Amino acid sequence: MEVLRAELSHHDELYYRKAAPEITDAAYDRLKRELAELVRAYPALAKAALPDDAVGDDRTGKFPVYRHRERMLSLEKSYSETDLRAFYARLVRQAGHEDVTCVVEPKFDGVAISVTYEKGALIRAVTRGNGSEGDDVTANVLAIRSFPRELRRAASDGSPNPIPDLIELRGEIYLPLAEFARINREREAEGEAPYAHPRNLAAGTIKQLDPQEVAGRGLSAVFYGWGAWEPAAMRAESQQEFHRCVRRWGLPGVEKYRTAQSADEMWTAVQAFDRDRPKLAFPVDGAVVKLDSVAGQRELGASDHAPHWAMAYKFSPERVETRLQAIILQIGRTGVLTPVAEFAPVQLGGTNVSRASLHNREEIARLDLRVGDYAYVEKAGEIIPAIVGVNAARRPADSRPFVFPTICPACQTALIGDAGEAAVRCPNEECPAQVRRRLQHFASAACVNITGLGPATIDALVTRGGIKGIPGLYRLRREDLAAMRLGTGKSADRLLAAIERSKQAELWRFIYGLGIPRVGAVAAKDLARRFDGLEALTAASVPRDSPNRPGMDGLNPGLVSSLTAFFAEPHNRTMVSELIASGVRPIKGKL
Ligand code: IVH
Repeated sequence: MEVLRAELSHHDELYYRKAAPEITDAAYDRLKRELAELVRAYPALAKAALPDDAVGDDRTGKFPVYRHRERMLSLEKSYSETDLRAFYARLVRQAGHEDVTCVVEPKFDGVAISVTYEKGALIRAVTRGNGSEGDDVTANVLAIRSFPRELRRAASDGSPNPIPDLIELRGEIYLPLAEFARINREREAEGEAPYAHPRNLAAGTIKQLDPQEVAGRGLSAVFYGWGAWEPAAMRAESQQEFHRCVRRWGLPGVEKYRTAQSADEMWTAVQAFDRDRPKLAFPVDGAVVKLDSVAGQRELGASDHAPHWAMAYKFSPERVETRLQAIILQIGRTGVLTPVAEFAPVQLGGTNVSRASLHNREEIARLDLRVGDYAYVEKAGEIIPAIVGVNAARRPADSRPFVFPTICPACQTALIGDAGEAAVRCPNEECPAQVRRRLQHFASAACVNITGLGPATIDALVTRGGIKGIPGLYRLRREDLAAMRLGTGKSADRLLAAIERSKQAELWRFIYGLGIPRVGAVAAKDLARRFDGLEALTAASVPRDSPNRPGMDGLNPGLVSSLTAFFAEPHNRTMVSELIASGVRPIKGKL
């Protein structure tokens, strides 16, 4: 029990505070269940005040904390049809009659939030924290454009809506699946590893210190419950009435809840959500069953972490077994090596998959994954395939542990990254694999948009033309292209014209295109507003105590240190002066 508790608290820390879990929800739930079974079997050994009964703490220390008026609880989870039916039987027993109405809702997979509206106006948004007090993330929630600032005072037919003096609305902030896919497409186009899970991205985003970063990600919200609600006479008498209030106030609510009047109906409704899951536009990881009657809820009460009148049911992820054919290493534009598993193609959750990121070398070691193994593949958050384990019984007798290379597969430079570090990097900034990625990013439509400079051309420029960086593009002449067998005629002229045109791309696209860590499109626009050109940005990107930093005030400190580190590298400064020397003249553009 102690071992399990220690392990769980390690994973809680990663999940709640760092928004970067290293195991799947299913694996976490298995640990939790194992602990619960031990506690049940050996109550005498299980000490009082079990941490397994507490609410995970998401406070980061980065925000002011705010005390909830009413505690913000979590949910009890059930793992089987039997558990769920037992829950319904408890509701019936408590009611003293068979006629119990339940509401079945999707379990939204995002970050829990409590939003206070006073006299109809949004005044505060707070994360769950430890249940009693959480991080005040109001500025970030206000950065979500679609988030309603006011409760609607009248219905569409003109009749007035009752507006409470104060209400703490409880709900979830999540990333719609289409938005998650868009963000990942952009990242992959830039040669960066995709985010693994929409929930972690939503959690990481809402805990950003810079509200502008939040605005760039299309977060959404849904309200499914409440804490304080004044005056008391206005409170809803049922969960269904609450849903109607939310709709009348013009807030995003649970659109497609179902109702059930028996254990069978409840189970049918839960399964219907599981079946419809691929059709939903938001991430869902289960269903929640709630007693409809608020009077009944009050009678049942709550433990210190969850109400007795509600129960979550987690859907199990679809899992397939397939043979691992290879582990390849992708080199990103900052030189980080990402191992990727290539396996025999399989159908999973409606798509054909054959690759999964292994994130870093620790992950391979943790799974003890070997080429030739039969591995289990699941879709993390229903979206991104992930290897979750190995079928030990089918391991070939002659298999060998995977040996992570010590030299870069693309340029043979010794890799850096100590045994304790997860990320392994090729330090050679002229590594052809990195240069290719950097050029791809720079030339992409999101950056300076050099049409005709696709992956094949870039490959030729790097391997046959020996181009070592962005400035090399601007030194290209017609005869170089001919020598690289990239054509002599119209296509070569078109490419040269596109490169020439890019010299006057917008400044923010240049800044974004340089590939400075942490400088995405949003930060690049902010920098372009502050600085007149690349020289000014370079000049101001100096250590904190230097007098020479006009324009850096009020910028996110992490961003500033990334800029400083980037421009501390002589080769990056050289890159900027070479660009300017070759006639690059970015325009300010519309910002
Ligand atoms: S009700 C007092 N309803 O799941 C009851 N929670 O794993 C409070 N969640 O802490 C929660 N969808 O963050 C409720 N339809 C839903 C939900 C939901 C997602 C979240 C919530 C909760 C967590 C428990």
